[in-house]
Amino acid sequence: MQIGFFDSGIGGITVLHDAIKLLPKEDYIYYADTANVPYGPKPKEEVRKYIFQAMEFIIRQQVKAVVIACNTATSVAIEALRSTYNIPIIGMEPAVKPAVEQNRHGNKRVLVTATALTLKEEKLKNLITRLDNEHIVDLLPLPGLVQFAESFEFNEGVVLPYLKEQLSTYEVNNYEAIVLGCTHFSFYKDMFRKLLPPGTSIIDGNRGTVNNLKRTLGERNALNEGRGNIMFYHSGCRVTDTAKLAQYRRLFKRLEAINAVHSL
Ligand code: DGL
Repeated sequence: MQIGFFDSGIGGITVLHDAIKLLPKEDYIYYADTANVPYGPKPKEEVRKYIFQAMEFIIRQQVKAVVIACNTATSVAIEALRSTYNIPIIGMEPAVKPAVEQNRHGNKRVLVTATALTLKEEKLKNLITRLDNEHIVDLLPLPGLVQFAESFEFNEGVVLPYLKEQLSTYEVNNYEAIVLGCTHFSFYKDMFRKLLPPGTSIIDGNRGTVNNLKRTLGERNALNEGRGNIMFYHSGCRVTDTAKLAQYRRLFKRLEAINAVHSL
């Protein structure tokens, strides 16, 4: 059986990329809800409806587990999904914990970036209340990065000025770590690196999520069942168009290049 990956768009590819590294002998389906991306600026109830539509489809494809490779979808629907479907559902969590713990003895701050909806949700608020005893966490939505990623815009000349402007109200030297709390943002690690001091960590939750996937499948003796195939779906339609598949290949190449230089 295969493993389902779900995101509003291409952000979850950054998580799938790590999963393939860790679990190369699995088959995957990747479902991007391209008809409804972006989720971040939309009301919670609307986004929840899209997530359940997508899940109904994914569950019918014979999957042994589903990774919700989207922080926004995790924050608005993970509990409801787990109580509806009887298979393991792995979510994302903004990596606030490692970021705050890393700074335990310092006096620097942590910047959590995510979509507007993730930042508004109880799930993140509760996490921060639990971990941020020193009140060192600041929050920053970056909707432009989702838009750039969805239009395959990875040109520094276009993206860097946006990021620079968004970070301009923060004294970046005061930050110990920046948390990428949206899976789309991991495509831009190299550009964050250019704008942040060398000592500032850039942390996403991707590795934690794929470790969790591996552990969960291991506990069920359900590992190593495939050949590394990936099937792509856009809002319920199988992607067979060669130009679109080539775009996905280019995304994997970009992640290879970023991770070769910016291992986290
Ligand atoms: N990739 C998604 C996340 O991790 C959401 C992007 C969006 O649809 O706004 O939050």
